[in-house]
Amino acid sequence: MSRVTLNDPSPAPWWRDAVVYQVYVRSFADSDGDGLGDLPGITSRLPYLRDLGVDALWITPFYPSPQHDAGYDVADYVDVDPRFGRLADADALLEKAHALGLKVVVDLVPNHTSDEHEWFQKALAAGPGSPERERFIFRKGKGRGGKQPPNNWNSVFGGIAWERLDDGDWYLHIFDRTQPDLNWRNPEVRAMFEDVLRFWLDRGVDGFRVDVAHGLFKDRKLRDEKVHGTTEGPSSRHVSSLLETDTKDEPMWDQPEVHEVYRDWRRILDGYDGDRMAVAEAWTQTPARTAAYVRPDELQQAFNFAWLLAKWNAADMADCIRRTFATLEPVGANPTWVLSNHDVVRHATRYGGGPVGVARARAATLAMLALPGSSYLYQGEELGLESVDVPEGLRQDPAWFRTGVEWRDHCRVPMPWKGTKAPFGFGGRKQPWLPMPAEWAALTVEAQTGKRGSTLELYRKALKVRRTFATTAPREVEILDRAKTVLAFRRGPVTVVLNAGNRPVSLPKGNVLVNSGRLVDGKLPPNTAVWIR
Ligand code: GLC
Ligand code: MG
Repeated sequence: MSRVTLNDPSPAPWWRDAVVYQVYVRSFADSDGDGLGDLPGITSRLPYLRDLGVDALWITPFYPSPQHDAGYDVADYVDVDPRFGRLADADALLEKAHALGLKVVVDLVPNHTSDEHEWFQKALAAGPGSPERERFIFRKGKGRGGKQPPNNWNSVFGGIAWERLDDGDWYLHIFDRTQPDLNWRNPEVRAMFEDVLRFWLDRGVDGFRVDVAHGLFKDRKLRDEKVHGTTEGPSSRHVSSLLETDTKDEPMWDQPEVHEVYRDWRRILDGYDGDRMAVAEAWTQTPARTAAYVRPDELQQAFNFAWLLAKWNAADMADCIRRTFATLEPVGANPTWVLSNHDVVRHATRYGGGPVGVARARAATLAMLALPGSSYLYQGEELGLESVDVPEGLRQDPAWFRTGVEWRDHCRVPMPWKGTKAPFGFGGRKQPWLPMPAEWAALTVEAQTGKRGSTLELYRKALKVRRTFATTAPREVEILDRAKTVLAFRRGPVTVVLNAGNRPVSLPKGNVLVNSGRLVDGKLPPNTAVWIR
């Protein structure tokens, strides 16, 4: 038996046990029928999110951008890309969301700008040695004529992390060539982002999801990485790093200075009413390193990618739960849980795909939703969507162009809302920016609404029942000793059992509150989870 507890700040801020739904702007709802989702599209679907039963939405970047990395290449942090709407549409979205009782978290991309950002354009024009170039990371190259890059770093998206200009300077881009890294040692950069935070806080956003939160500072000397890895992408790099026991030398990530920035930001957030928050996307090498981002005077949350990386294995899941609490306890932070997002293979597919993968995904989600803390859902998982095989010629991920390996388009295909033919009510007649599989006709919101046993109805029910205990049940989990292939834990009045084995298992006595699949003769079949009270 193992028990883990957490500090319990009271009164509880809204985010403590919030279920946050990630809206991938391009693919959620397209109001003007141009094939791309947009802000008015999101606003029109807010009642859907309220009825689904989530507490908040996190919206991926909708700022002006040449869209070389689906908006994570920001050309202007304080406006809306005309493809997605206008500032007034952002205001309208916030207003409607708040009227429906939903909080809104927006994405903040501080590690890099777009190469079309005014600052980078000025830096290009101003030339080597100029103060304009001090806002980014420009260096001379090595070797004769400076023809070699300044160091051995690789881009997360493949290839080297440096680009050379005609004037001889190189600039650093940890991601795409069109995403120059900012120099966070320059006070102008810090000041600019403080203004950006205030701009959106003043407009009423409830929080920020901080993109690449562990990346802002690089080793001061930009020294070579000791073991020079091959070019890797987000999935491979991140997946391997969290599971390895030996940590790698990473002079481009997770430098101590970054925490100063989050202390400043925390003061800004705390200066506003309404428990404004920030959640870090920090693919650090160990959960303990991530816990440093949620110390009491830093950010409120960080994504718990260890949960997303846990295999379909009861012991691994139990271990992850224990470790999550153990690493957060010293800093007194509340956990988060996430199974899918716009950068990884959808969990139904990760767990094997097909009916078994979907059953496992439903079970894992149900187990997750009983845990204390905040859960992040990714649009479409409530429909049991799987990652899609996007034809090569239609892929758009910069990582695909840099490596020839498909990493992320598969999980970014637009939402099927209704009807029998693509684009399934996503937008107008125009086909969306990524094609939608014909089989999704059976998975639309319309098709699943009111349908017994549908994944959508499971999510609705689980989220509804969750409200009856999530905020009041003790903030501790007792992991129960069961068969090796069974994850079982008690949280206050609720016992959760998940069967990751291949034979039905018996259940403790009590009322079944929610089950992710049908019980057979009172037993819990494989790939199924249940809440019992
Ligand atoms: C984060 C985002 C990802 C983006 C990258 C660069 O990992 O989630 O989509 O490509 O940062 O901004
Ligand atoms: Mg549109």
